[in-house]
Amino acid sequence: MTEFVFFGGKGGVGKTTVSSAYALECVDAGLETLVVSTDPAHSTADVFDQEFGDEPRPVEGYDGLSALEIDPEQEVQDHLQGLKRQLNSQLSAAMVNEVDVQLEMAHQTPGAYEAALFDRFVDVMRSAEPYDRVVFDTSPTGSTLRLLALPELLESWIERLMHKRERSIDLYEKAAIGNQEPRRVMDGDPILARLRERKERFEFAGETLRENAAFYLVMNPDELSIRETERSLETLDEAELPVRGLVVNRLTPKPNPDEEGRGARYLRQRVATERDRLERIERELAPPVVATIETRVEEVRGSLLEDVAANLEIDVGSSAGERARTE
Ligand SMILES: Nc1ncnc2c1ncn2[C@@H]1O[C@H](COP(=O)(O)OP(=O)(O)OP(=O)(O)O)[C@@H](O)[C@H]1O
Ligand SMILES: [Mg+2]
Repeated sequence: MTEFVFFGGKGGVGKTTVSSAYALECVDAGLETLVVSTDPAHSTADVFDQEFGDEPRPVEGYDGLSALEIDPEQEVQDHLQGLKRQLNSQLSAAMVNEVDVQLEMAHQTPGAYEAALFDRFVDVMRSAEPYDRVVFDTSPTGSTLRLLALPELLESWIERLMHKRERSIDLYEKAAIGNQEPRRVMDGDPILARLRERKERFEFAGETLRENAAFYLVMNPDELSIRETERSLETLDEAELPVRGLVVNRLTPKPNPDEEGRGARYLRQRVATERDRLERIERELAPPVVATIETRVEEVRGSLLEDVAANLEIDVGSSAGERARTE
């Protein structure tokens, strides 16, 4: 069974770095792995020094690793075109223009981006069979995490819509009885069919996220990141999606004990401040800290990524139902 692992966190904390490193660990453990990124800046391409696209592509130099980059803007456009095509085929010509305008407007609203992204996530989850592990490097805003909390919400909303639609069809059928044969339209109703299809999608997503997925949050040892993580934890908690662990990235390395001077003093002070924050994170946030990663001198790619991967104390071999190893 494929397992889905999500790495979330504020912009720039190291999600792409950590998800890529985690994916390498999975490959090392013999798991067929796919990394899915939604980063508009295409940083997965930077990390592996290779272009990726909308479909999974093997990562050169790593057997068993593939990557896929979702372009959220493109997804919104595709989503809009798809909806237009589907609705236009069901509407009278006079309505088409009106509906097009409405759809264009709906796609400018906050939430459209998330909805399109969500659809693509579900597509990836549905076609994930060739992989043992799918690693999602989620986009910088908290919205991707909120999005994951949506299935339940959307499901009950769709149920209400379906109920309304059924009632109006029912009334329509009854209304005709006086004249002639009762009109039977419920079975072939395209709107009802579409709502039903959406509902199944949400059910699948909700079930998969709850049963075969693990969530990790990446953070930095600073106040802003701690607060943001607290908020994300609340969101995921409300959605009953427990966070399995926290990854604290960009810790300051300790200077050697015999080193003196301004640089060494600065580093010692930073190390002490970060140690206090790390203690606070461990004390106040519920999920365990499953990995701590020091700041490297250079950007993390190539052999440096393997070095970070070796540092990552997340047990990749465990199934989604088990807890990650804590230190
Ligand atoms: N431990 C580290 N040491 C040195 N550089 C790091 C470390 N972690 C991340 N970086 C660098 O910091 C930058 C941001 O990291 P990364 O792209 O992984 O963050 P992100 O959370 O994915 O960002 P975004 O929110 O923009 O997608 C990258 O250039 C990366 O190489
Ligand atoms: Mg990123």
